[in-house]
Amino acid sequence: MTKRKILVTSALPYANGAIHLGHMLEQIQTDIWVRFQKMRGHECYYVCADDTHGAPIMLAAEKRGISPEQLVDEVRTLHVADSQGFLIGHDNYYSTNSPENKELASQVYKALRADDKIAVRTIEQLYDPEKQMFLPDRFVKGECPKCSAKDQYGDNCEVCGATYNPTELKNPYSAVSGAKPVLKTSEHYFFRLGECADFLKQWTSGSSARADGAIQPHLQPESLNKMNEWIEGGLQDWDISRDAPYFGFEIPDAPGKYFYVWLDAPIGYMASFKNLCDRTGLNFDEWFGKDSHTEMYHFIGKDILYFHALFWPAMLNYSGLRAPTGVFAHGFLTVDGQKMSKSRGTFIQAKSYLDCGLNPEWMRYYIAAKLNGRIEDIDLNLNDFVARVNSDLVGKFVNIASRSAGFIAKRFDGQLAGSVSDMEILARLQAAADELAAAFEAREYAKALRDIMALADVVNAYVDANKPWELAKLEGRDARLQEVCTVLINAFRLLTIYLKPVLPKLAEGVESFLDVAPLCWGDAQALLLGKKINAYQHLMQRVDPASIDKLIEANKENMQATQDAPAAAHEPLAETIKIDDFAKVDLRVGKVLECNFVEGSDKLLQFTVDLGFEKRNIFSGIRKAYQEPEKLVGRHVIVVANLAERKMRFGVSQGMIVCASGTDDGEGLYLLDVDAGVKAGMRIG
Ligand code: 2FM
Ligand code: ZN
Repeated sequence: MTKRKILVTSALPYANGAIHLGHMLEQIQTDIWVRFQKMRGHECYYVCADDTHGAPIMLAAEKRGISPEQLVDEVRTLHVADSQGFLIGHDNYYSTNSPENKELASQVYKALRADDKIAVRTIEQLYDPEKQMFLPDRFVKGECPKCSAKDQYGDNCEVCGATYNPTELKNPYSAVSGAKPVLKTSEHYFFRLGECADFLKQWTSGSSARADGAIQPHLQPESLNKMNEWIEGGLQDWDISRDAPYFGFEIPDAPGKYFYVWLDAPIGYMASFKNLCDRTGLNFDEWFGKDSHTEMYHFIGKDILYFHALFWPAMLNYSGLRAPTGVFAHGFLTVDGQKMSKSRGTFIQAKSYLDCGLNPEWMRYYIAAKLNGRIEDIDLNLNDFVARVNSDLVGKFVNIASRSAGFIAKRFDGQLAGSVSDMEILARLQAAADELAAAFEAREYAKALRDIMALADVVNAYVDANKPWELAKLEGRDARLQEVCTVLINAFRLLTIYLKPVLPKLAEGVESFLDVAPLCWGDAQALLLGKKINAYQHLMQRVDPASIDKLIEANKENMQATQDAPAAAHEPLAETIKIDDFAKVDLRVGKVLECNFVEGSDKLLQFTVDLGFEKRNIFSGIRKAYQEPEKLVGRHVIVVANLAERKMRFGVSQGMIVCASGTDDGEGLYLLDVDAGVKAGMRIG
């Protein structure tokens, strides 16, 4: 068989949030394919990385009082642990904030510029005068220009579904500082995608010949249709620059201009591979040169097709590099038929699944049992999950070994029969190897697993027909018992080979039980006869349905504690101050006279506070935590009384009400209490 050289990636997770089961679906899909290719004897590498750049990551780090580098390092450690927990065998898991990526992004950009594919244009964009930064669309909020719904994002309205430019919002405000944004001009750098239409028409509908002669279409039919629509609709040039402050790479010869995160993210695939090459002596240029005979596949979600099937191949092509061999898009993961939801506890974080003691191979098996090569959403039905794992994986497959291994150990000292007469069943299992391989190759995992379970049914029927437990009771039937159990152990071994891409750890357990070298696909053509095997250790437990309830509960709590932020041991202390510094802050006890919602704001409450000597109007961003403002009337609060007045969209705020808060929104906000007897106006300190 021709040995293929294959580079595989899955999408780079953003470094500002935890890995959830949606990410895991993709990594599992990719990992199964890579493990399968490796078992077939091909040279295959799976690289990934964290996607670290962009304004949201910069702002998230700032909010936590740490540098973006610190944040992305911290998150990467968590992401790596999650992937490893699900047995994802990345050959390299890197970071887009790496020297290799900086160098490659600059190379790609310079090559595009040399090919006249970069244009510089002046654009107008909303700017936050207080924070002194241009605002990404998602960081501008205001009223929808179509339906006037309040507090809508700058790119689309969640109420009426309209899409628009942030400049069209009515009464816009910055989601970073609350300030009213102003329009400001800036020079931006554009990739002339419009000029790539001919190449893209050809590439999207084209295919590549693999080293083994097979033809690989670049896109799935559904993706091709979508791309055709987009190409026909006219390709817009793509804005690839962002202004400082921005966490990313500065554009060569353009001080203060940074590559937009989506420019250097896919280059991050190359950078991760480059890093692997440099560590292991692989020849990077052989894989990325224009005439490379290697294959490159990207596993991605359907939402980022545009980037991978248009921008990315065009960037590669016009910078003199090879284009992908295939872009494999998958659908979204739903849980119990619905979009994952934080309030229902079905927005399941990868870590919480593992922390609840659930076996990663259960999820790998379940997801594989639902995946195919098309772009369809797949549903994690939690009842079905328990039923399928217990009845198929444990009931049909694992039990084959547990029903036969004991006899081999106890009655035959671990020795398998030297030959068997019931070859038909084993030959049938062996004959399935090619068709199963074709299904794995085509990412038709659901079909592969259905066929494997049908074979397991055949084996279980053989158990029932031959009843080893009865043979064991009969005089003079030892040879037959050994033969039947040898057939079963061999059948189990063959099924293990076929399931190994999905269940790598269980397969390892089987390899040590059978005392054999790591199984590869070709091993299915041989049998294990006359060999001494080790004692059987139980390979897999059933799922306890109670653990699923625990999982859901854990994710409801998770939502409170860890939404969008890595687990921080504690927020670092601010710098040390002297008592005089503290004395500058005049904290007073105030009594709430009035408290109301603020129309047009989902964050603010408006307070009238009595400070004993005067009344103050104070806006406080605690609406989320205190949804019944009238209940706050009459209570005491702590006020920073000498804070400079601040003009806000809704009026002037004359001070600040002190609150305890965690490092992220989900942890809540808490007003402080004072003991009975206190009077409004008393100084605190
Ligand atoms: O959509 C996302 O989560 C992106 N971080 C994916 C990037 S994939 C690649 F292009 F880097
Ligand atoms: Zn609207």
